[in-house]
Amino acid sequence: MTDDEKRALRDAFGQFATGVTVVTTCEADGTPRGFTANSFTSVSLEPPLLLICIAKSAHSYAVFCESKFFGVNVLCEDQKDVSGLFASRATDKFQQADWSEGAQGVPLLPASLATFVCAQHQKVDAGDHVVLIGQVIDFAVNPSPPLGYHRGTYFSIGLEDKLVSAAARAGDVSIGAIMECDGALLLACDADGAVSVPDAPKNAVSLPGLMARMTQKGLSPKLDHLYAVYDDAVRARHAIIYHGTVSGAAPQGMFYCPLEDIPLDRVVSPAERSMLARYAQEYRHGQFGIYQGDAQRGIVHKVSGRETSDL
Ligand SMILES: Cc1cc2nc3c(=O)[nH]c(=O)nc-3n(C[C@H](O)[C@H](O)[C@H](O)COP(=O)(O)O)c2cc1C
Repeated sequence: MTDDEKRALRDAFGQFATGVTVVTTCEADGTPRGFTANSFTSVSLEPPLLLICIAKSAHSYAVFCESKFFGVNVLCEDQKDVSGLFASRATDKFQQADWSEGAQGVPLLPASLATFVCAQHQKVDAGDHVVLIGQVIDFAVNPSPPLGYHRGTYFSIGLEDKLVSAAARAGDVSIGAIMECDGALLLACDADGAVSVPDAPKNAVSLPGLMARMTQKGLSPKLDHLYAVYDDAVRARHAIIYHGTVSGAAPQGMFYCPLEDIPLDRVVSPAERSMLARYAQEYRHGQFGIYQGDAQRGIVHKVSGRETSDL
């Protein structure tokens, strides 16, 4: 396959939404090792089997192939930073994580929503990966909302619906989108030079209305996830902002603006201004959360040991 074909296949695989796990084990001298994996699959109840796939290029590949036992920790929505940590090649992952020893001394992350300890059952060579099949010898469940992963981005299941319906119940609503194209944003500009994200027309405040407005202008928009829900005090309404990508020449009244040059001083709404500034920052770091709040104070639903972080 050419590099382009490989990228296209990776994107196609990425359409499959998954949860996120951290797979753990110990070296012979007891040093804990772990990596983030979304290749987890439950396989069999009789006997109890699960599988994960490990890349032959992973630093911990040899350790996992040799170890008799391994653990699988299913992450909850608060553990996005744990996923990031274990997806890194840091040598001190466990020094930065909250962990304890499970059955057979397997290191586990107790804040996870489910943990499994497995005895290695079978290894199947599979191209640039090895499929590790484990027989479950112990497991625990700690129900909480799961962390989702889709097309290279984390998502929280259920949070979007909760935020959107709360905003819709609260009264006047606008629906807009941060539309990205190769490191630039598509922005609307009115006759006075005021800048905003494109939004749905007043007579069709809905996602189809927003999409139709853009396609009628010759654009090809693709929405992927909810990005922000905030109280826009200047316009006395709640704004629901999605994220997506767009292609096509900017129509009249719109322009593409490089992310580092967003003219924030021409964005009338302070809440929208802080959202755009946050987006530019997150884009640089490749991590996104769902913002809920207003211009002064908000909450980013996402990440980390912290459930939410005050802005
Ligand atoms: C959401 C997500 C899912 C991943 N799934 C896998 C996977 O299933 N198998 C794998 O080998 N690597 C996967 N990775 C990449 C590894 O976590 C990454 O290569 C890590 O550096 C491996 O750790 P190590 O090099 O210390 O062994 C995933 C990364 C992320 C962010």
